[in-house]
Amino acid sequence: MLFAQQTYMNKITAAITGVGSYVPENILSNKDLEKIVETSDEWIVSRTGIKERRILKDIDKPTSFMAIKAAEELITKKQLDPLEIDLVILGTATPDMHVAATAAYVASEIGAKNAFGYDLAAACSSFLYGMATGAKFIESGKYKKVLIIGADKMSSIIDYQDRTTCIIFGDGAGAALLEPNHEGLGLLDEYLRSDGVGRDLLNVKAGGSLRPATDSTLASKQHYIRQEGKTVFKHAVSSMANACEQVIKRNNLEKQDIDWLIAHQANKRIIDATARKVGVDDPKKILVNIEKYGNTTSATIPLVLNDFEQQFKKGDTLLFTSFGGGFTWGALYVKWAYDAS
Ligand code: UT7
Repeated sequence: MLFAQQTYMNKITAAITGVGSYVPENILSNKDLEKIVETSDEWIVSRTGIKERRILKDIDKPTSFMAIKAAEELITKKQLDPLEIDLVILGTATPDMHVAATAAYVASEIGAKNAFGYDLAAACSSFLYGMATGAKFIESGKYKKVLIIGADKMSSIIDYQDRTTCIIFGDGAGAALLEPNHEGLGLLDEYLRSDGVGRDLLNVKAGGSLRPATDSTLASKQHYIRQEGKTVFKHAVSSMANACEQVIKRNNLEKQDIDWLIAHQANKRIIDATARKVGVDDPKKILVNIEKYGNTTSATIPLVLNDFEQQFKKGDTLLFTSFGGGFTWGALYVKWAYDAS
C-alpha cells in the first residue's frame, strides 16, 4: 500500500477539488404516479427504493439548463474564475439537440470562454467514463481544470403511460472539478468495460441513424426509453460487482479499506446486491440518495458526491461504480482530496 501511494506521488493525478449539483423544484411523488399509472407507493419503494423524483417541467428548459446550474453552484462554492477552465465534458443521454454539442453551449453560458467542450454518451456510465477521460487530460500535465458534468432530462424520453419506466427515472445534474494533485490523491485506477449485446435490452429505439424519426416511429412510441428490467438488473449487479472486484484486487485493497461505495443509483436493490457481492457490508459506507431523485442517469454519481460532500475526509478511499445502456460499466478507485467542512 505504502509503495503504491509513493508511486502515485511521483506523478500527476487528477483529483476532484469541488462539486455542485442541481435538481428541479418540481417533485413527482409515488402518490402522484399512482394517479397516472397502475402502480402503488408500496410497490415502487419495495422494488426500487424510490420515493420521489424531480421533473424539469418547463418545456423550454433542456438538459443544458440543469448542467449550467450545477456548474454554476460549483463555481460559486469554489470561487472559481470560469476563464481558468480548460475543458468541459458533459455526460448525457439527453443532449439538447443532435449534432450541436450541449457541452459547448454549457461552457459558453458559464463563462468558460477559454475551454473546449464535448458530450460523452455512455448512458448511465457517462459520468464515470467522463471522470476517467477527463483525468487523462490532467495527467498529461497540459490541462489544469477539467469540469465533468453529468446531466439528464430523462422526463423528455419517458412514456408516462409505461409503469415499468416512468416510476424509475428523474431529472437532475451534477458537476465535479478535476485538478492536478501531487500528493497521490484523486483518481488512482479505473476499470471500464462495454458490451454491445446490451443495446437490445435498454434503449431508445428511434431518432438515431438506425431508425430516423417517422410518423410510424412516433405513433409506436419508439422515441421513449425501454428496457428489459429483470435482465438489465442481473447484468448490472454482476458487472458492477466484477468491476469493483477487479479494482480492489489489482490495487491490493482490503474490503475494510473502502470508506465509501458510490454506485449508480438505478435501483436500491441493485446497489445493495452489488455491495453484498463486493463485501462492503457496513450500510453507512454505501451512499444512497435514490429515494429523493430516482435514476437520473448521468447525474446520479455527482448528485451523491454533492449530497455527501461534507462527510468525506481528505485521504478517504472511494469506490465508484456504474452500469448503463450499451451496455457500459466500470469502477473507479479514488482517494478523496479535500475536507469540505
Ligand atoms: O440505469 C440503467 C440501468 N437500469 C437498471 O439498472 C434497471 C434495472 N431493473 C430494475 O430496476 C427492475 O427490474 C425494475 C424496477 C424495472 C422492475 O422491478 P422487478 O422487480 O424486476 O419487476 P418485474 O419487471 O419482474 O415485474 C414484476 C411484476 C410484473 O407483474 P407480473 O407479471 O408478476 O404480474 C410487472 O408487470 O410487477 C409488475 N410491475 C409493476 N407493478 C406495479 C412492473 N412495474 C410495475 C409498477 N407498479 N410500476
